[in-house]
Amino acid sequence: MERLLPNQARFAHVPVEAGGGAARGWWDANAADYLAEHGDFLGPADFRWCPEGLREQDMRLLGDVTGRRVLEVGAGAAQCTRWLVARGVDAVATDVSGGMLRAGLALDAAAPGVRTPLVQADARRLPFAGATFDVAFTAFGALPFVPDASVVHREVARVLRPGGRWVFAVTHPLRWAFPDDPGERGLTAIRSYFDRRPYVETDEHGAVAYAEYHRTVGDHVAELVGAGFVLERLVEPPWPEGHDRTWGGWGPVRGALLPGTAIFVCRRADQVPGAGPAAAGPAPGLPAG
Ligand SMILES: C[S@@+](CC[C@H](N)C(=O)[O-])C[C@H]1O[C@@H](n2cnc3c(N)ncnc32)[C@H](O)[C@@H]1O
Repeated sequence: MERLLPNQARFAHVPVEAGGGAARGWWDANAADYLAEHGDFLGPADFRWCPEGLREQDMRLLGDVTGRRVLEVGAGAAQCTRWLVARGVDAVATDVSGGMLRAGLALDAAAPGVRTPLVQADARRLPFAGATFDVAFTAFGALPFVPDASVVHREVARVLRPGGRWVFAVTHPLRWAFPDDPGERGLTAIRSYFDRRPYVETDEHGAVAYAEYHRTVGDHVAELVGAGFVLERLVEPPWPEGHDRTWGGWGPVRGALLPGTAIFVCRRADQVPGAGPAAAGPAPGLPAG
């Protein structure tokens, strides 16, 4: 384990608990700034999957949610769930950060008649009974900030009904080989795609303040299959023509050449046509725990 020094920003292994536990404090402290920067793009009640701007209204990645019970994990201020609730969908938003959820309450207060169900919860320990949702999703929530994404996948599998759908958007794994820069500098690979060390920021005492984790495409597939899902579709949104808004390392220059987002559309394996009962358990050769 590398030694972490105060006020650093680098790629380094960190103790598992320090990495996953940092998210809540970081998002609490930065909720206001994050929403000041991105809130107008996300809207109070819009469902955008990614900085490329893809909307659920057009993509329908969740399928037909009429009469379905829907769970969002790592929902932030719950713009996506609010959009669903406003359309009469039975949906609940969860997030580990009270600061982000309070911002969600404020968005509800600004929209009379809208009440978005909000629950504070770590996606690794969801406070719901098994088999209570038909669909679960996240747009860049929870998964990038935990060292143990398998735990999230297994929790989601637990609360989904047989055959339930799990859709998650993450930074496209390829991006990790490049600098986090939307311009020309972001077009030259500078580190190995296979280097799994998380990006870490430390506070003035050298404690982990922020950690974001990289998984290769193969890692994502192994983790979701290991949790009992079948991958039905992997969406790599192209940068839309005329879309000139940058978001961190996303923007039109890089977007024209490299994917920025990967959206995994999965289904609990136990009800997938043609999938045998064994598909519901951990994949052969993968650890069960
Ligand atoms: C980039 S935001 C995504 C939310 C929303 N889609 C948005 O764009 O604002 C990431 C969210 O993941 C949440 N998060 C981080 N770790 C989490 C965990 N272990 N469980 C649940 N939520 C978590 C953060 O609190 C934050 O609200």
